[in-house]
Amino acid sequence: MCFCVFLFFVLLLTVGHEAGVHVQGPSAPLVVQLGDTVMLPCYTQGPLPLEGLRVEWRKKDSESVVNIFQHGESRPDLQSPSFRGRAHFFPDEVSKGNFSILLKNLEKSDSGVYKCTVSRYKESMETEVEIKNIERLVVTGADRAVVASVGEEVILNCSIDSHLPANRIEQVAWRHMDRDVLVLLFQDNETFPESSHKSYQGRAEFFLTEIPKGNFSLKLKNVKMEDKGGFMCEVHTREQSGHTIVLLQRVGFSVFNILVLVLCIATLLLAVALCVSILIQQRKKASSEIVMRIHASLILCPNVCMCAAFILWSTEGFLIEVITCSTISLIRPLLLIKTHPYLSRFPDRFQKAVKPLAVPVYHFVIAIAVCSGTFDEIRQTGTEFGHIATMMVCLGVVIFIGAVILAGFGFTIPAAMCLEAGNCALLCLVLRQNKEGFDTSFQIPTVLPSVGLGIMMVLVLQEYGFEGKPLRCLPIALLTVMVVVFSMGGTAACVFFIAALRITFKVWIPSLTSAIHLIAWTVLIMVLSRYRLHIQGCCSQCRGKAYLCCTIIAAVLLIIYGALSLHYLSKYMENHKDCGGYTALIALLHLLASTAFLKHPNVLPYLPHMLVYMFGAVGLTLINSVALATELKLKAGKGVRTTKDLRVTVLSCEMVFVSGWLGLELCGVWMRTRNRIKLNVEDQRAGETQEMVDVCDVVPDPPEKTTRQELAAPSQNHTYNFCKII
Ligand SMILES: *[C@@H]1O[C@H](CO)[C@@H](O)[C@H](O)[C@H]1NC(C)=O
Ligand SMILES: *[C@@H]1O[C@H](CO)[C@@H](O)[C@H](O)[C@H]1NC(C)=O
Ligand SMILES: *[C@@H]1O[C@H](CO)[C@@H](O)[C@H](O)[C@H]1NC(C)=O
Repeated sequence: MCFCVFLFFVLLLTVGHEAGVHVQGPSAPLVVQLGDTVMLPCYTQGPLPLEGLRVEWRKKDSESVVNIFQHGESRPDLQSPSFRGRAHFFPDEVSKGNFSILLKNLEKSDSGVYKCTVSRYKESMETEVEIKNIERLVVTGADRAVVASVGEEVILNCSIDSHLPANRIEQVAWRHMDRDVLVLLFQDNETFPESSHKSYQGRAEFFLTEIPKGNFSLKLKNVKMEDKGGFMCEVHTREQSGHTIVLLQRVGFSVFNILVLVLCIATLLLAVALCVSILIQQRKKASSEIVMRIHASLILCPNVCMCAAFILWSTEGFLIEVITCSTISLIRPLLLIKTHPYLSRFPDRFQKAVKPLAVPVYHFVIAIAVCSGTFDEIRQTGTEFGHIATMMVCLGVVIFIGAVILAGFGFTIPAAMCLEAGNCALLCLVLRQNKEGFDTSFQIPTVLPSVGLGIMMVLVLQEYGFEGKPLRCLPIALLTVMVVVFSMGGTAACVFFIAALRITFKVWIPSLTSAIHLIAWTVLIMVLSRYRLHIQGCCSQCRGKAYLCCTIIAAVLLIIYGALSLHYLSKYMENHKDCGGYTALIALLHLLASTAFLKHPNVLPYLPHMLVYMFGAVGLTLINSVALATELKLKAGKGVRTTKDLRVTVLSCEMVFVSGWLGLELCGVWMRTRNRIKLNVEDQRAGETQEMVDVCDVVPDPPEKTTRQELAAPSQNHTYNFCKII
C-alpha cells in the first residue's frame, strides 16, 4: 500500500517534470488606462489536474492577495479588500492550465508587479506580471494659443493617447466654451456634422484618415470673429473621459474688416471737413454756387461711404441689419434735400417734386428693404405662415406705391394715410416672426385703422372746415374710398384671420366700428358742405384757434397710434432677439408717416432749421461711422457683438433727425396759423379805423421780413377762395 502511494507520487512528479511544468506570463509589462479591465496572463503549456492544485495571485510589494484558487474553486473570501470583486479566474480555463485572472476597473494603485504562484503539493512554480503606467485618458491639445484672421482656416489640435484603439472611443465632442455650442461631434465611429450648431455647419470637420491614429484635430474653415475663445475637445470612453482646451486667442481683421474701418474713418473725415468748409465759406460770404456745391457733396459723399461700409459689414452683421442700415444711408440724401434750408434755391421743378415726394419715397425704400430681408427669413424658417406673409408683403408694397403716387398728385392726407396703413401691414408682418404674436396680431387691423381714420377726419375738418380750402369732388371721393377701404379692411382682415387660423373672435366688434366710421364720415362731409357759410361768418380768431386745436388733436392721435404700435410690438415680441431693431424701425416709420401728414412748411426760423439739417447731414453720419467702427473693434476684441443690433443705434438717431423735422413742420404750422389770424384781423379792421391796425402790429412779429411776404401770398389766396365759394 505504502509503496503504491510512493509510486504514485513519483509518477506524478515525473509527469510534472516530463511536461516541463513551468508557468508563463507576458513577455513585456502591461500598459493600461485607468479604469480599464486587464487580463494578467499566467498559464502552463499543458493541462494540470485540479487535485491538490493551488493558484495564488499576489501583489509583490504589498503581499496582498489578489485571488486564490484552491480545492477546485476560487476563494474570494481570501482576497484582500482592495481586490474584492475586481479579480476573477476563468474557472473553465483553470483545468486547461490557464490561470490568468481578469482584473477590472484598474486603479492608480494597481500598478506594480504581480506574482502568480502555482503549486501542487510540494511542487511550486511562479511567474511575474508587471502593470506599468496606469494613466488617465490623455488628451493632448495645442501647445500654444492659435491666432488666425477672419476668413482663414485653422487646425485645432486634439489627439488621444495612442495606446487607446479608435473603436474604444465612444464620443469626441468639440465645443465652443464661451458660446456653449456644439462645433462637431464624433460618436460610435461616425461624424455627425448635422448636429453642429448652425453657425458651424459646413465650417468644421475632422481629418477622417487621422482618426484611427487618435488625431481628432478640428479643421475650422472661414474663421469668424465670434469664433474667438476657447474650444474644448471632450473625449469619452466607456470608463473615463478627458478633455483639452485650445484657445483661439486672436482673430485678426480680414481685408473686408479693414475696408469697413477705412470707410468709417473716411466718412468721419469727409463729414467734418465738408461741414467746416461750409462754415468757412459762409463766413467769407462766398458765392452761393460754391456753398451749394459743398452742400451737395456733404449730402452725398459721407452717406455713400457709410452705405458701402455697412454693405461690407455683412461679413460680421446679420442680413436684415445690413440691409436696413445700408439702405438708410443710401436714401438719406433724399430726406436731407427736403430738409435743406436752401431748398428754395434749387430749380422750381425739383422743389415741386422733392417737397411732397421725399418722405413717401424714403419711407417706401426703407419698408421695401425690410420686407426683402423678411423674405429671406421666411425662406429659412419654413413656410408655415409663408403664404400669408408673402401676401402681406405684397399688400404692403401696393399700399406704399399707392402712397407715393398719391403724394405725387399732391394728395397729402391720403398719401400719409396709405403710409400708416402700410406700416400697419408691416407691423403684422414683423409680429409674424413670433408665432404667438401672429395668432393675436389680428387685433391690429381692427384697432389701428380706427385711430388712423380719426386722424384723417380731424385733418379733413381742419383743412376744409377751418382753413377754408374749397371742397372739391376728387379729393373728397378719394378720401371716401379710403374710409370705406380702411373701415371694411379691418373687418375683412378679421374674417380672414378667423377663417385662416380658426380663431374665435366676435365679428360684430369690427363691423360696428366700420359702421361708426362710415356714419362719422358722412356726417362730417354733410356738415362741411352745409355749414361753410356759417363758418365764414364766424370770427376769424375762433377759426384760427379751431385750426390749431385740430392740429393738436391730430398730434395726440398720432402719438396714440405710435404708442399702440409699440405696445403691440413689445407685447408680442418681448423676448425676440430682434425686438429692439424692429421697435426702432416701426417707430421711425410711424414718425415719417406723421411728417407726411403735414405740408412742407415754406417758412421756418433759420437757426433751428439749419441745426436739424446739419444734424442729419453731419451728426448722423458721424454717429453711424463711430458706432460701426466701435462695434467692429469691440467685436474683434471680445469675439462677440457688443450691441446686438446696429439697427437700434442707426434707426434711433434717424428718429431724432425725423423728429427734429417734425418739430420744424409743427413750428411752420404754428407760424402760418399765427400769421393768418393776424392777417385776417388786419383785413377785417383795415376798413374800420387806422388805430386798430396799429394795435394789431403790437402782436409779436414774424421773425423775418421775407416771411411776411411769403406768408401773405397763400393766405390771401385762401381768402380769395372763400369769396369765390360764397
Ligand atoms: C486564458 O483564458 C482566457 C479567457 O478565456 C483567454 O482569453 C486567454 O487567451 C487564455 N490564455 C491562454 C494562454 O490560453
Ligand atoms: C498641432 O500639432 C502639430 C503636429 O504635432 C504641430 O506641428 C503643431 O505645432 C500643433 N499646433 C499647435 C497650435 O500646437
Ligand atoms: C492631425 O492631422 C492633421 C492633418 O494631417 C495634422 O495637420 C495635425 O498636425 C495632426 N495633429 C497632430 C497632433 O498630430
